[in-house]
Amino acid sequence: MKFFIDTANLEQIKEAQELGVLDGVTTNPSLMAKEGIKGDAAIKAHYKQICEIVEGDVSAEVFGTEYDDMIRQGEELAALHSQITIKLPCTKDGIRAVKYFSEKGVKTNCTLVFTVGQALLAAKAGATYVSPFVGRLDDISSDGVALIKEIVDVFNYYGYQTQVLAASIRHTQHIIDCMKAGADVATCPLKAILGLLNHPLTDKGVEIFVADARKMEG
Ligand code: G3P
Repeated sequence: MKFFIDTANLEQIKEAQELGVLDGVTTNPSLMAKEGIKGDAAIKAHYKQICEIVEGDVSAEVFGTEYDDMIRQGEELAALHSQITIKLPCTKDGIRAVKYFSEKGVKTNCTLVFTVGQALLAAKAGATYVSPFVGRLDDISSDGVALIKEIVDVFNYYGYQTQVLAASIRHTQHIIDCMKAGADVATCPLKAILGLLNHPLTDKGVEIFVADARKMEG
């Protein structure tokens, strides 16, 4: 399973990259705004900086809701760097735009997916990634991880190449559950990734080994 980091924060992206397990980055308008980025030039410069830090795909989301705006913004974003993946909402215009970019060989991430039917349309349009939002489904007492499994099963049955990118991951157990459900990618906050390392017996074991190693110092 690939790990993407779900942030536009450069320090966190660098920290995840230094860990050596990072496969890409996802952003969205909310995450970009959180970093205080304002204006077209600053947005584009920020995406370029992210691409310089990581080696994998970097999802950059269009802001427009109409097809023509999505195409114009997507073209501009795709021209920034070969690692840029165009992130488009799973709406009627968004699916049309996914089809447009997939036919041009530009990678796409179809986002805001909450049903297997939406995922199917994204796959049929040729999306590189489809992003079901696990946490936001859990927020309304719906089973986000169950949706991941449902989409994985359908894609496997029909042989769709679209990768299932589990998004809206809120905590470490979500990562484990999405892995077990067969997600191709999980995009996660840094804290959730680092949480995978937490085990008291590991900490205790390191403590004991360090103490015993000191006993052997000459
Ligand atoms: O990847 C999508 C993600 O950023 C949304 O997360 O926590 O706002 O539901 P959240």
